[in-house]
Amino acid sequence: MAQADRTTDALPSRSGTAYRGESNLCSLVYRSRAKITLSDYELYELVQAAQRRNAAESITGLMLYDEGRFYQWLEGPAENVAGLMRSISADHRHTDIEILSDKPATQRQFGDWKMRLATRGIRSMHSINNVVIPTVTTLSDIHRYPERTPGLLADMSTATTAAHSPGLANLPLKGPAGSILKDILVTVVLPELLVRHAGESRKTPWPIDHRARALADLLIGSDTEAATDLLRTLQDSEGAIRHLYENLIEPAARRLGDLWGADLCSELDVTLGLSQLHRAVRLLNEEMLQPTIPKGMFLPAVLIVPEPGEAHMLNSVLDSDALGSIGWDPLTEFPATDEALQDLIAGTWFDALDLSLSPAFRRENWLPRVTHTIALARHASRNPALVVVVGGRIFAEDTTAGSRVGADNISTTALSTAHVIQEELNKKKNG
Ligand SMILES: Cc1cc2nc3c(=O)[nH]c(=O)nc-3n(C[C@H](O)[C@H](O)[C@H](O)COP(=O)(O)O)c2cc1C
Repeated sequence: MAQADRTTDALPSRSGTAYRGESNLCSLVYRSRAKITLSDYELYELVQAAQRRNAAESITGLMLYDEGRFYQWLEGPAENVAGLMRSISADHRHTDIEILSDKPATQRQFGDWKMRLATRGIRSMHSINNVVIPTVTTLSDIHRYPERTPGLLADMSTATTAAHSPGLANLPLKGPAGSILKDILVTVVLPELLVRHAGESRKTPWPIDHRARALADLLIGSDTEAATDLLRTLQDSEGAIRHLYENLIEPAARRLGDLWGADLCSELDVTLGLSQLHRAVRLLNEEMLQPTIPKGMFLPAVLIVPEPGEAHMLNSVLDSDALGSIGWDPLTEFPATDEALQDLIAGTWFDALDLSLSPAFRRENWLPRVTHTIALARHASRNPALVVVVGGRIFAEDTTAGSRVGADNISTTALSTAHVIQEELNKKKNG
């Protein structure tokens, strides 16, 4: 273990909590390099396990994971911190450990944070409570000036955490991602949609007129009422809503993922963008989708879940809305682990399981995990002929991926999910 800078300088203590009766406290800050890129799920597991041991050993602090590096502040009884540091030093998940600060402390900097995660964007925000999201400047300073890391981490003790911040879905998508998403809508998605629609019902193609631009603005902005009015007008005059639904939401989600892949926006931007798209879907649903199932028809019992650990739930929500809108009554759940999913599926009879991955990211490396989840779900199911349908970007782009994970079929858009499930049920019924 290298020792970059062993400092005894006083660190800022902005939210320090004096624990009465606590003596022999120390704080230790180190940085290290991850040996492999951690997935959201691996990070989630690491933090969960850390929180359990830290709670038992009165250790608090913060762990930042960014660009393949860990930075961690540990504080607590000196002998416990030393013991934990021995374990951490032997951990094969990281290397090049450098102690940046190690000194006695009179109070805790991180109060009761058993080990909070700080990370760029929001990665596993749905599965890890209270993620701290540092600013890009802070992250850049931490990477460039390791000697300033302790102070910069200490500053994060006063940060507003993601779980405490106001509803994500209501945050307007500003900055580059907002304008990029608008551009996509205006220059790519809407023209495709409008030209296609024009081909069916009008003699001349519909130009990208002010209504399309306004709609894009409104869907991305926060003026729900105006957006609904405009949708109504569009529907009355053009009947284009269904095409909008099919062509706007999922392609836009994929393009957000591409932007992230090209480093043009952050994961937080992607998630905010997905929230906005979800809001748009809700509007479209209210306007367009009415129950179409005749009374008395058999309604399959469907369980809709994202893959446990998946932070992007838009696909599940879209499927849930789409099935609900045609009169089905799916159960939509967000199990955090395979075990929780197994419990769900063992407890009730389901005809079909609808399992999805991110609509924005490809998540190719998740396929083995999905295979495992499906095998466990089939094993736990009360229904030996359970139909499993998978969705998400990877399955829309690589149509062989569905059978590779052991699913019966894939659904490439929420509007086809009911049809795909019905077809698979019929196949199983007819042997
Ligand atoms: C970067 C990093 C930070 C970690 N932080 C903690 C932590 O705060 N608390 C904890 O109990 N384990 C933490 N761990 C896991 C420990 O290294 C170790 O696996 C765990 O404490 C079990 O210790 P043992 O193998 O000695 O029983 C961390 C691992 C890594 C790679």
